[in-house]
Amino acid sequence: MSYWNQFLWVIFPYMMIAITIVGHIYRYSTDQMNWSSRSSEILENKTLRWGSLLFHYGIIFVFFGHVLGLLIPKTFISAIGINYTLYHNMAIYIGGTAGTITVIGIFLLLIRRYGNKRVSVTSSFGDKFIIVLLFLIVGFGIYNTLFYNLYFGHFEYRSTISPWFRSLFIFSPDPKLMLHVPLTYKIHIILAFLAFGVWPFTRLVHIWSIPIAYIKRSHIVYRRRCGEVK
Ligand code: HEM
Repeated sequence: MSYWNQFLWVIFPYMMIAITIVGHIYRYSTDQMNWSSRSSEILENKTLRWGSLLFHYGIIFVFFGHVLGLLIPKTFISAIGINYTLYHNMAIYIGGTAGTITVIGIFLLLIRRYGNKRVSVTSSFGDKFIIVLLFLIVGFGIYNTLFYNLYFGHFEYRSTISPWFRSLFIFSPDPKLMLHVPLTYKIHIILAFLAFGVWPFTRLVHIWSIPIAYIKRSHIVYRRRCGEVK
């Protein structure tokens, strides 16, 4: 096992996980006033509405697809009746659709961030960096799901990437599993870990502030002041 393999599939992921934990604690305790996605809606609204809508809806499905494919062992999935062919078709059709929606969304957000002058000049380095990083991650993801599988044949990541990914969480990393993984899958994963590392230092912190309480909150009733003329 080469040094590079040890670095990429053991040291680097743990480094990024450690940075994200410490970074979040640091950012939360020192910079709560800026803990947001710093809305730029006032500067440009049309592309933002579509880009943000498509990206956020797409990424929710992509997230659950990753949980299914990476965290839940293949044996369990087949035990509940989802065989190889069914899983493979689900990954291509559902995963492919979710990925396509996500990639269109992030593409719109990317051209808006760089192409709209008002948005561009008011963006920080972090804003511009994270959008390119997300675009590349999602781009490689969809390339793997749709193009790699269609052109080069199905790559069974549930016997390689998934057990390697789970091995990190039980502190028994097995980098050998990643040796024969295709390059585009490796790039996707390395970039994703890089995103985990930079997460606390970018606008991505807003992920932790999903307004869940908003759903349960009682209605706010607006009434005219007593005696006020319409
Ligand atoms: C270390 C964490 C991650 C791992 C191990 C991982 C692994 C994978 C794998 C194995 C696939 C399936 C390829 C196929 O179908 O053959 C995939 C697809 C994909 N990934 Fe990731 N991924 C990670 C993080 C992310 C992140 C953070 C994002 C988004 C920001 C993302 C976005 C996508 C997209 C859009 C697809 C294609 C659509 C889909 O299958 O849902 N991935 N990823």
